[in-house]
Amino acid sequence: MTAIDILTKAKNGGYAIGAFNVAGIETLKAVVGTAKELQSPVILEASDGEVKYVGIKELAYLVKIQKEETGLPLLLNLDHGKDFETCKQAIEAGFDYIHFDGSNLPVAENIATAKEVVKLAHAHAIPVEGEIDHIQGSSSDRTKEDPRTIQQGGLYTDPEKAQKFVEQTGVDVFAGFIGNLHGIYAQEIRLDLNLLAQIEAALPHTFLSLHGGSGVNEEDIKKAVKTNVVKINVNSELRVAYKMTLQATLNATNEIAIYKLTTQAIEEVKKVVARKIRLFGSEGKI
Ligand code: G3H
Ligand code: CA
Repeated sequence: MTAIDILTKAKNGGYAIGAFNVAGIETLKAVVGTAKELQSPVILEASDGEVKYVGIKELAYLVKIQKEETGLPLLLNLDHGKDFETCKQAIEAGFDYIHFDGSNLPVAENIATAKEVVKLAHAHAIPVEGEIDHIQGSSSDRTKEDPRTIQQGGLYTDPEKAQKFVEQTGVDVFAGFIGNLHGIYAQEIRLDLNLLAQIEAALPHTFLSLHGGSGVNEEDIKKAVKTNVVKINVNSELRVAYKMTLQATLNATNEIAIYKLTTQAIEEVKKVVARKIRLFGSEGKI
């Protein structure tokens, strides 16, 4: 199955595929191991920092081996690729999906670069995700400002602008901002589901991607997966599970074999992945 086939199946089946950030062999094992146990398709993804840490080719090879070993529909996504060159490198390394994030660029530049990325990716039968409204927040620091103050200021996606962007660029997937902040906050995140419905109406033939999947109200997620949202990104909750568990392990043992220290952390990350897979409705959908 191609990446588009996997997304189409999710759209028709009323579920979404979890896009889980991986930062090395431990998180990769956790995500693939859970996907295998629950017989779920998954997207493995890496941000700029994660790609630099693991290595773009190394990551592509690790995922290729996992695909061969498990036979599962695993897709490797470049998460928030910031420029054409990085997207090109990922395509050439064997990634299955490209998220080009030009939301920090002037709109004309975002559109022009997205078009180039689409041209190259489509020549390799790879779908491209694009965005125009910078998804606020961060997945790398837990001591953050309350999101309610960040959310103010008309930063949410305008469906008409989204429609024009998709028309002009030819992206297959659109990532909107409907309150889905990156990161986890003191208050649970509520999504603007009315706005999501408007975006869907403006883009009936475009897949939708929901970023910021950690710390979001679960009822809102259940409603979102019934729309054209076929991909939900999750990072912070995995990182918290990993860090907290590793910290507890390190405090409790004199063990120095590195591979023994991460075992429990991997198990805790697996629990988060399993909960998300069930919430997104993709269990057994292979
Ligand atoms: O692309 C990554 C995600 O959107 C992560 O968001 O840290 O809120 O799960 P999160
Ligand atoms: Ca979030």
